[in-house]
Amino acid sequence: MPDGLAYRQDYFADPEAWQALVDLLQDTFGINVGQLDRLGGPDPTSRAFGYFDETGRCVANFSLFYMPLVIAGKPVRAIGYQSGAVRPEWRGRGLYRDLIQRAFAAAKTGGCELELLLTDKPALYENHGFRSVTEYDFKGQAPALDHDITVGRLLDLNRADDVALTSRMLKRRTPVSASFAVAMQSEMFLLNTVFDPEIRLSYSAALDFVVAWQADDTGVSILDLVAADIPTLPQILAVMGVAVSEITICFPPDRLNWAGEPVERKSYAGLMVRGDIPLPRLFALSPMAGF
Ligand SMILES: CC(C)(COP(=O)(O)OP(=O)(O)OC[C@H]1O[C@@H](n2cnc3c(N)ncnc32)[C@H](O)[C@@H]1OP(=O)(O)O)[C@@H](O)C(=O)NCCC(=O)NCCS
Repeated sequence: MPDGLAYRQDYFADPEAWQALVDLLQDTFGINVGQLDRLGGPDPTSRAFGYFDETGRCVANFSLFYMPLVIAGKPVRAIGYQSGAVRPEWRGRGLYRDLIQRAFAAAKTGGCELELLLTDKPALYENHGFRSVTEYDFKGQAPALDHDITVGRLLDLNRADDVALTSRMLKRRTPVSASFAVAMQSEMFLLNTVFDPEIRLSYSAALDFVVAWQADDTGVSILDLVAADIPTLPQILAVMGVAVSEITICFPPDRLNWAGEPVERKSYAGLMVRGDIPLPRLFALSPMAGF
């Protein structure tokens, strides 16, 4: 290990060390994960592996978190890796290699069945047995709105009561797909919403669900559904309040009684996996679970 650095793990309970990680990720990726503090805190299953300099700056980090999935109708113990960064002046000295090996070893002892990460640098992980997988969104004809359902209220995660409502619903959701979906994960849903001002959350009090969606020049996309009972697509569109001829669903639509054409997802960071669990031929992780 280079002189002057201290190795630390599982340090989120120390507010200064947590802030040092927030700073590292802000400086590296331009994102403020410190917003988690007002959204309920970091994922309690998160395990962080990092190096700190003598002034307390976090110079390198790699984290894992438990991300229970449902794949082909069965629960899968999965782990996601995230927050991998090394400050520029410390790069090229093997710090990252050291940290990912520590995290991989920890995942192994935790008995996980599938490991996932999202990256724009797949070469970093191919030597470690990760393989890139293609994700598919589903595009097709939109049904007519259900006219018995009123338009939902747009949630605002700057409001503590809307954060509390969304968190409560995330805790008792049904996985959005039986084919491939997160079974339980709140923090990334909340954080992804505040990161992207284009994402809208429409809430139906009558049907008790939240739909995450966005509209841009490529059309209207449904990103996720947070519901104990999955509503129908005409109900969802009514709550969104949009009448469109075409819709994109960004998760396998097996619970929607609707079929669309698979369209390869193009994104900055591609999904990589390691593990023997067979994956569906056509699937995607909801962007709201992206990490
Ligand atoms: C990518 C990054 C984490 C590497 O950190 P580092 O401490 O310089 O990496 P190391 O010196 O430990 O090298 C680890 C391995 O990665 C390889 N590597 C380093 N940078 C790489 C890059 N940009 N692309 C592909 N491979 C890379 C090294 O050759 C080495 O390979 P080896 O183990 O087979 O010898 C660092 O450059 C960084 O923070 N970049 C910006 C943020 C980022 O891209 N994070 C990764 C997100 S998935």
